[in-house]
Amino acid sequence: MAESGHTVWTRKDLIGIQDLSREEIELVLDTAPQFVAVFRRESGIKKVPLLQGRLVVNWFYEPSTRTRTSFELAAKRLSADTLSMTASSSSAVKGETLHDTLANIEAMHTDVIVIRHSSAGAPHILAARHASHIINAGDGRHEHPTQALLDAFTMREHIRKRRGDPCAGLDGVKVAIIGDIEHSRVARSNIWALNKLGAQVTLCGPSTLMPVHVERMGVRMTTSLREAIHDADVIYALRIQLERQAKGLFPSLREYIRLFRIDNESLRHAPPHALIMHPGPINRDLELATEVADGPRSVILEQVSNGVAIRMAVMHLLVNSGRPA
Ligand code: CP
Repeated sequence: MAESGHTVWTRKDLIGIQDLSREEIELVLDTAPQFVAVFRRESGIKKVPLLQGRLVVNWFYEPSTRTRTSFELAAKRLSADTLSMTASSSSAVKGETLHDTLANIEAMHTDVIVIRHSSAGAPHILAARHASHIINAGDGRHEHPTQALLDAFTMREHIRKRRGDPCAGLDGVKVAIIGDIEHSRVARSNIWALNKLGAQVTLCGPSTLMPVHVERMGVRMTTSLREAIHDADVIYALRIQLERQAKGLFPSLREYIRLFRIDNESLRHAPPHALIMHPGPINRDLELATEVADGPRSVILEQVSNGVAIRMAVMHLLVNSGRPA
C-alpha cells in the first residue's frame, strides 16, 4: 500500500516539497485515490483502521480553518486518536520552548505532530530532534507542502478527466499563479511541486510582490495578467494579505483589482477550459470575483475535499511505510 511503481516511502517527516523527488510526490498523489474511494463508500462508513491506536497532535501557532480541520478529519478517518493545541492554550505563553513543549507532548507517546508556525524552519528544527513524524502545515513564508500536494492532485484529476486519460500527468500543463508571490508559502510549495511534475509555471502580480531572483526557480514572470492567463490550463489566485497592505506594497486595492483580479472580464482572455483555483481563505471580490469563485470553472471546494484524502495519504505513508499492509 505504501508503494507506487518502484518508489517506496522512506522519509520520517514531511517538511517541504523542495526536498521531495518527483517519484515521492507521485507516490503521495497515487496513494490518495484509495482514500477518496473511502469517502464514497456505499456503506457510508468513511473510516479505515490504518492509524488505529496512533496519536496525532495538531499543533497550530497560527489561525487556520482548512488545514487544521482537514488534518483532524484525516486522522479520525484513519482511526487515530487526535489532540489539538494552539499557541494561546499551550505553555508557550509562559515562555516554554518549542522543544520542551514537544518533549512533554511526546512523553504521552505521540506518533504524528502536525505543526503550523509563523517561523520558517520550525518544523525542520523539531524533526531533527524528535522521534515523532513531523508534518509541516505551513511555516512562515517557507512552505505549505500538503497544500501543494492537494493542489497538484486536483489539477491532475481534472487533466485526466478532460483528456480521457486515467494516467495523464501534469507534464506541459500551464499554470498561472497570480498575486502576492513574495509572502506566499503556498506559491513556493506549488512552484516546487509543479516544476518537478513537469508543469510550466507563470507568476503574475505587482513587481513589489514578486520575490527577487524567483525566475531561478524555473518559472516565467510577468506583470501582465492577460499574458499570464492567455494559454493557462489552471489559474491559481493567491490571497492578498491585507495585513501587509499597510506597508504600501501596491498603490491601492482598487488598482490591484483593476490590474490583477480574476473576474469574468479578465477571464475573456483565458482559454474556456482553464480551471480556477485558490488555497483559501478568499478575499471575495478582491483577488477573485464572487462570480468566478462560485462559478462553473472553480474547483476551490474540490481542493478542500481532496485535501482530506491527501493528508490521509501523507500520514499513512509516514506511519505505515515499511510495515506489513
Ligand atoms: N489554505 C490554507 O492553508 O488555509 P487555512 O489557513 O485556513 O488553513
